[in-house]
Amino acid sequence: MFDREAYNKRVEWYQEARFGMFIHWGLYAIPARGEWVRSVEEIPEEEYLPFFDEFDPVDYDPEKWARAAKEAGMKYAVLTAKHHDGFCLFDSELTDFKATNTKAGRDLIAEYLDAFRAEGIKVGIYYSIIDWHHPDYPHYGDRIHPLRNCEAEKEAEAGRDFDRYLEYMHGQVKELCTRYGKIDVMWFDFSYDDMTGEKWHATELVNMIRTYQPDVIIDNRLEVSGEGFGSLATDNPSVYSGDFVSPEQIIPPQGLKDESGRNLVWEACITMNDNWGYCAKDKNFKPASMIIKKLVECVSKNGNMLLNVGPDAKGNIPEESLKILEEIGKWMKKNGNSIYGCKGSALSKPENGRITQKGNKVYYHIMENSIGGVPLYGINRKQVEKIRLLSDGSELQIVDFWTVNNYPDVVFVNVSSTPYLPDETDTVVEITLKEE
Ligand code: GLC
Repeated sequence: MFDREAYNKRVEWYQEARFGMFIHWGLYAIPARGEWVRSVEEIPEEEYLPFFDEFDPVDYDPEKWARAAKEAGMKYAVLTAKHHDGFCLFDSELTDFKATNTKAGRDLIAEYLDAFRAEGIKVGIYYSIIDWHHPDYPHYGDRIHPLRNCEAEKEAEAGRDFDRYLEYMHGQVKELCTRYGKIDVMWFDFSYDDMTGEKWHATELVNMIRTYQPDVIIDNRLEVSGEGFGSLATDNPSVYSGDFVSPEQIIPPQGLKDESGRNLVWEACITMNDNWGYCAKDKNFKPASMIIKKLVECVSKNGNMLLNVGPDAKGNIPEESLKILEEIGKWMKKNGNSIYGCKGSALSKPENGRITQKGNKVYYHIMENSIGGVPLYGINRKQVEKIRLLSDGSELQIVDFWTVNNYPDVVFVNVSSTPYLPDETDTVVEITLKEE
């Protein structure tokens, strides 16, 4: 039976954190055409293995990554321990296809965990339940395996023992849950077609995880992928429902509720350009201003944003990503109180921005300036204790000029003496309501 009280306790820190860093990194950074390159280009193993021999991330410095995340205002991070290609960034005893056997010669996961914990950032591990390297994972006829169309693999299918693969997969998850200290997030990816739920022996897997990591929160992709919500959206979630829904490359238009109208815990995972893994030619980066507005949108709808970076083969986060993180950080340093610990508000979304709220603090995110004072619709003047510009704490006075006399029930404030907002991306007005 689903223990909703324990669940609500477990996800508390996560809903406060609101903003995290996703990191996709592995051998695919060498071809530099995204993390699905082996599948998309149907690359046979013998043409992919040279990347294993070549992998030598001489610039890998997880402390630098952690500082960038901290400066951006990110409160948790999730790094790929193994992606679909099966390459392990951690020193697994169950495979030789791992970073410690490359020129890197290091446990990249252990160093990441130490560095991010040292910055006070909660640590998550992404683990692909799909594995294109393992001989017992379906090849021919699978929907996405690199050798799905390779006739020569057809006969070998009969000899594949999926239970042996599951023993390997569960064994690796156990390594990650027992050898690296406290893990805050386990991010599995992904279920598809009949490859879902108990096909992965998911009940056994989650029970094992919760034995070793009782406080860990898990995503919902043992049941679904970026599409579908899974049983977490029902009144009786399964053992492997996960603790949050994981919409991908989209922010749910109306937020998300379960079948009884409870706010669902959700996290939108978003790339900065169009790729999760490093893609040298993909320069389609979203501006920081857009990402800030989208983070506000997530929080205004009771959700989180997990923003991705894809380090290159040498271990460097791309300069474009670092610049975007730095700009987001400048805004977060001044306005983070309107994000952390906040949720959506019962007040309707204003026409010129969004609202987030934390108890008696209402944050009006003004994204378009007004003429004649910004209307704070829904705010009752009698309930107002004070109104401040969040970024500098300055008082904002209520407009009492004849021009607003037709709207006595609307509180107007002037946020700027020029046509421009103090922060053209998002000027945050903090309204403190009188305690009931
Ligand atoms: C999709 C992609 C996978 C990526 C994940 C992140 O599942 O296939 O490569 O890791 O999204 O959410």
